[in-house]
This record gives sequence, structure tokens and C-alpha cells, in this order.
Amino acid sequence: STLTFDASKLASFVSEDELAMMQPMVTVADELLRKGTGVGAAYTDWLHLPTAYDREEFSRIQAAAKKIQADSKVLVVIGIGGSYLGARAALDFLNDYFVNAYADSDRDYPQVLFVGNNISGQYLNSVLKVIGERDFSVNVISKSGTTTEPAIAFRVFKQKLEEKYGVAGARERIYATTDANKGALKSFADAEGFEKFVVPDGVGGRFSVLTAVGLLPIAVGGGDIEALLAGAAQAEGELVSAKLAENPAYQYAAYRNILYRKGYVTELLINYEPTLVQFGEWWKQLQGESEGKDGKGIFPATGNFSTDLHSFGQYIQDGRRNLFETLLRVTEPVSDVVIPEMDAEDGLGYLQGETMSYVNRTASDGTMLAHVDGGVPNMVVELEKQDAYHLGYVIYFFEVAVAISGYLNGINPFDQPGVEAYKRNMFGLLGKPGYEELTAELRARL
Ligand code: PA5
Repeated sequence: STLTFDASKLASFVSEDELAMMQPMVTVADELLRKGTGVGAAYTDWLHLPTAYDREEFSRIQAAAKKIQADSKVLVVIGIGGSYLGARAALDFLNDYFVNAYADSDRDYPQVLFVGNNISGQYLNSVLKVIGERDFSVNVISKSGTTTEPAIAFRVFKQKLEEKYGVAGARERIYATTDANKGALKSFADAEGFEKFVVPDGVGGRFSVLTAVGLLPIAVGGGDIEALLAGAAQAEGELVSAKLAENPAYQYAAYRNILYRKGYVTELLINYEPTLVQFGEWWKQLQGESEGKDGKGIFPATGNFSTDLHSFGQYIQDGRRNLFETLLRVTEPVSDVVIPEMDAEDGLGYLQGETMSYVNRTASDGTMLAHVDGGVPNMVVELEKQDAYHLGYVIYFFEVAVAISGYLNGINPFDQPGVEAYKRNMFGLLGKPGYEELTAELRARL
């Protein structure tokens, strides 16, 4: 099957009865989500995005991607948080790890570079250096249009485009993905005549990868966005039963809740492939921003193995026992290497002729058992293949799981009031008009 969920290694931590006892609560959480009676229900349109998306806009996304592929060597994607993590994760998931290092002549698709996700001038200068004299376009993504990081980057890249192509030429190369009806970027895009795409009202940033927010950059970078939506549509059709026995996403949510109540308050999403690292970054936002509120929630972290087994692997095996792991792995390797024969004393003779994927998978099995023995509960989410279809499926899997998980924990999984606190302080300290009182108060405290 497209995705399998395996909780068999939880046996020494959670009994079957415990899962069954979660059923009534899961039934309620499912109703809150599906009937739209739960808190935050206005932000659950992601549930039906894979099947009920705007077809006209989808065609415009494909046309814009073709135009960018034809007239640009680089697409600069400006956005932060939910306005970039999904596209970045998808492009890493679907491409060769070093795809952005290829020369233009060896590339099938434009290089996609992400900016506006930090406040570093050094980073921005290095992106400008990498672009050099090459043709580029910009996709600025911001629902509000006032988020500091992308707004600064947009000013810089708009200016660069205008220097290179003139004001009118620049307009043809700026694609704005923003709110349909309001916000600073929406009005600016209208006034300047940029092509616009929509961040739908009922979809929060961290749930937006299957909207234009993710689809345009993914398509430009060569991702098959039809397959991506088709995989998510399969998940939308399959992950619907309120019965735990029939719904692996709900099982995952329920097990997380059981573990959390037992004191396992940190979850590590584990991968054994560098191309899955960014998926972990997307997942961290999805989990952390959905669940971490009102003084509770599982802390989401990642383990990039086997790399990290040689760093904080010690802690996982032996440190404070409040961790659990969810291993995300893929059955069919994208590509493989056979371990060569060599006359050497490295103790590897017994592995020559074997594949690296065999060794990698065995490492993940062995590590899982060692961690379970060390007191770390483990679950496995396994995809058959690492392609756009399977990516769509697993995105939806985690989205629906976190919604149920949040309702099980008695919070609103769809708001993010905590993100505003730092933004307010930054505005205050920078002296943004309207924040004068806060400016004085914060400066006095520093
Ligand atoms: O999920 C969220 O709400 C945040 O991560 C936002 O996506 C992020 O702050 C960017 O906001 P905006 O799209 O308004 O620039």
C-alpha cells in the first residue's frame, strides 16, 4: 500500500486495551473535525483541498510554471513558516540532494532558492551571488504581506529585478501568492499588476502546501503537482473512518496522545535519507504550531540518521526518558550503490556486493530495537516510494493526524497565537509606528 503505519514496537509501552480506550475520545475528535463543530473549524478547508481545489487556478499555476521555466534560470521564493516550508520539503523530497549545485546546462528545471525565511544580510548576499547574471523570477508568498522577513527580502529582489529588467519587465517576473481579498501584498499586487495566486481563507499557513503556496514553486522545480494532489486525494478518501482499527492516521494520533500522557513529551521524526531532512522541518511546524499551546503539547524534533546517531544518539539511547520516535522511511530506494570489493582490513568483507539501501534499512531496524530496549517508544510510517504521489499521501496523513491529535489534547489545532508574540516585540523594538508604548517598555527592559 501507499503508506503503512506500524505500531508493533510500542508493545512494551502501550497495551491494546489502552488504544481501545481512546476510541470514544477519537470518535468525538473526528466529529469535531468532520462536522466542523470543533474550535478553529474555519481553518479546516485543507481537509478537501486534494479534491475540491480551484481548477482554473491550478491551470494558471501550471502555465506560470512553464513561463518561469522558459524565461528564468532561477526562481527566488520569498516566504517564511507556512509560506515556504512545504515547497522546500517537497523539492528536496523529489529531487537529487545536490540538484541546486548543477550547472544550468545540466539542469532540467530552474534552480529554486528560498529567501525571506531569516533576517540575515549575509544569506541574502550569498543568494544574490549564486544568481549572478542569470535570469530569474520571484514568487513572493505572504498571506498578510506584512511579515518582516519576507517583506524585507521582497524589497531587495524587486529592486534587483527592476535594475535588470526595468519596472515593466520586473512586473512580468513577479508572482504574488497571498490572501484573495485583503492584506498589504494583495493591494500591492493589484496596484502593480503582478500575477496573483491565492492562499485560501480556510487554510492556515502550515496546512497550505497543497495550495498555490506550495504548488507553484514545486511545479517550477519539476515536481509533478498533479501526482502530488492525486496522492493526497487517495489519502483524503482513505483516512476517513472514525474507527481506530480502520484509520492509521487516527491510530498514530491516539498513540501519540497515550505516550504524551505517560510523560513522553518529545517526539523525534526520524529519517535515514538526506532528501527527507526538509520534510522534517515542515513536519516540525505542522506539529509544533498546531499543538504547542495553553502550556501543553508534544515538542517536535527531528533525527537525521545515521548522521545524528553519532552525535545526540547517545542521548536518545541513554538520556532522560521522555522521548519517543516516529521513523519515516521509504521501501524502494530512489537509487542505490553496491558496496565494492576491496582487499582491506576494514571488517567490511561480509558486506561487499550488498547494497547501501540494505545496510541503511538494517541500520534503521537495529537502531529502532536498540532505542526500544533503551526505553524509547517507536512507531514507523513507511512509504512505498519517494515520489510526488506518495508525498501527497504522507502530507495529508500528518495533517489529518495532527488535527485529531490536537482535539484529543483539548486545544485548537488551527490557530497560532504564540507566533504573534515575537512579531509584536520585534515591531516594538524596531520602532514600528503604532507600537510606541511597547517600544519604550521593551527598550527599558533590555
Ligand atoms: O503558519 C503560520 O501562520 C506562520 O508560519 C505563517 O505562515 C508565517 O508567519 C508567514 O506568514 P505570512 O504568510 O502572513 O507572511
